[in-house]
Amino acid sequence: MNPDLHLLQPYPFEKLAKLKTDCAPPSHLNHINLSIGEPQHPTPRLIIQAMTVALERELGKYPTTIGSETLRLSIAQWLINRFQLPPYSLDPKQQILPVNGTREALFSFAQCVVNRDISTQPLVLMPNPFYQIYEGAALLAGAQPWFINPLEHSQNEPDFASIPEAVWARCQLLYICSPNNPSGTVIDLSSLQQLIEKADEYDFIIAADECYSEIYAEEIQPPVGLLQACAALGRMDFKRCVVFHSLSKRSNAPGLRSGFVAGDANILRQYLLYRTYHGCAMSLAVQAASIAAWQDEIHVRANRDSYRQKFDAVLDILQPVMSVTRPPAGFYLWPSLPGSDETLAHDLFAQQHVTVLPGSYLSRFAHGVNPGNHRIRLALVASLPECVEAAQRIRYFMSKRL
Ligand SMILES: Cc1ncc(COP(=O)(O)O)c(C=O)c1O
Repeated sequence: MNPDLHLLQPYPFEKLAKLKTDCAPPSHLNHINLSIGEPQHPTPRLIIQAMTVALERELGKYPTTIGSETLRLSIAQWLINRFQLPPYSLDPKQQILPVNGTREALFSFAQCVVNRDISTQPLVLMPNPFYQIYEGAALLAGAQPWFINPLEHSQNEPDFASIPEAVWARCQLLYICSPNNPSGTVIDLSSLQQLIEKADEYDFIIAADECYSEIYAEEIQPPVGLLQACAALGRMDFKRCVVFHSLSKRSNAPGLRSGFVAGDANILRQYLLYRTYHGCAMSLAVQAASIAAWQDEIHVRANRDSYRQKFDAVLDILQPVMSVTRPPAGFYLWPSLPGSDETLAHDLFAQQHVTVLPGSYLSRFAHGVNPGNHRIRLALVASLPECVEAAQRIRYFMSKRL
């Protein structure tokens, strides 16, 4: 067995299930789950229809790892429109790769790019709290994870300035997550550009997880992305930069398992080679559904509107009893609360049959603190009435504790 498997930590939802085992929540209240970031809005018909038609025709063929030209063209066009890149600035043959959701890609990418030679003492840098895959990917790639804590008193803005030069010098891969899970924080253009400069100085790769980029509060202010930061620097080869996007959140299709990786052609050439052996080509039926999804923005705008309605309603209910603000993007609330986040999640489930995720399950103790302590993550993925009902129960629960 690979001894590094022992380094993997229990997944947050495993810890959460354990935390709840001794609870007997009131049976007259239905269970409302705000813990998992699985979109519950209906998957658009156009995606289902495209997939249904393709199923009739395509199951008898092996797909190629690089994916169809039409899919890569649709993705390139989407990226160019969304991030205001110059026309034809992305080569669909060399700078786009379809992946089966960003989770597998974020993991396999590290296996491909990290040089595990022990003499290099490889580090993979990541935010803290963080999407758990980054850590597992680093460990199984033979690197050590290095956690970037948030700036004090911020809503989880990574404190890049706190990273010692000796750490940058060992960094081979930097994961960033913008918009962030759990806080919805967006890394601004100038910070992205400073990271690109660091990547040049210390020769590392930036893997930007942008899977929440299409869920944001202000219609006129979509979050910037890493390729956009490259373009603003005139860096049209996107050197050292790779972005990860997904249809799971944008198009309410987490079961489709569809996303893509785009950016530096030299890196993607190697990653394509890796993926060819890994055997993770995207099914042609999924490709057909994905083409339909990337070519449509109407359902994406409607999706954002639904989240806005939920934030409006839930924040009105919760703000009188806790310190919680509307995030610029994403679909989570990340309130800070007095006392133990674990106890709070436990008691809330036991008394109100509402499941939330303790913040400390999403982060590690690093540099003297666990930045997820005293926070909980609320995923506003359920329907509006369910989110409102959950918020009212949380308010009642909190008002009894105050
Ligand atoms: C930050 C982040 N990245 C990546 C993913 C994976 O999404 P998918 O594999 O569905 O594209 C998630 C899912 O919750 C996430 O929260």
